[in-house]
Amino acid sequence: MEVTRERAWDTLTKYTQSEALRRHALAVEASVGFYARKLGEDEEFWRATALLHDFDYELHPTLDKHPQDGAPILREEGYPESLVEAVLSHAEHLSMPRDTPLKKTLFACDELSGFVHACGLVRPDGIETLEPKSVRKKLKQPSFAAGVHRDEVYRGAEELGIDLDEHIANVVEAMRPVAGELGLKKD
Ligand SMILES: [Fe+2]
Ligand SMILES: [Fe+2]
Repeated sequence: MEVTRERAWDTLTKYTQSEALRRHALAVEASVGFYARKLGEDEEFWRATALLHDFDYELHPTLDKHPQDGAPILREEGYPESLVEAVLSHAEHLSMPRDTPLKKTLFACDELSGFVHACGLVRPDGIETLEPKSVRKKLKQPSFAAGVHRDEVYRGAEELGIDLDEHIANVVEAMRPVAGELGLKKD
């Protein structure tokens, strides 16, 4: 099958009804898509992978099932092994090597996109004027967006080989065009 962003969206929305989870998928898609373009990679394929990385979370909300039990569903839906493997590699508990640019990028964008989203939700203008230094400050407050694993944010940037401030700036820039869909625009 041809992997397209549209097809991935259809699969995501077939298994995921929660608006928050769909928004998380869109946020990670925007960030991963940004890097695909920047690196001259296959943007459509990268976007599809990002959209699907947590597609089974509603079905399998615990780490003894997510994302490993989602993999057979993706195969059944016709997705190639390269996509399935990239999806699986975002999960720390599976200890899979992140040995491709896509895997490194997905891991680096997953928690940080969620965190930037959380930062935007408590600002009057969303992420419009959000700066890396304010994101960094919030990263140091354990009670803020407590579900976001800080160690994964730091390690993700490290593995991607990018300065954290630059990575934050990229993710914010990537998410700005979809701020409306992410619920980050007040009107
Ligand atoms: Fe996940
Ligand atoms: Fe995620």
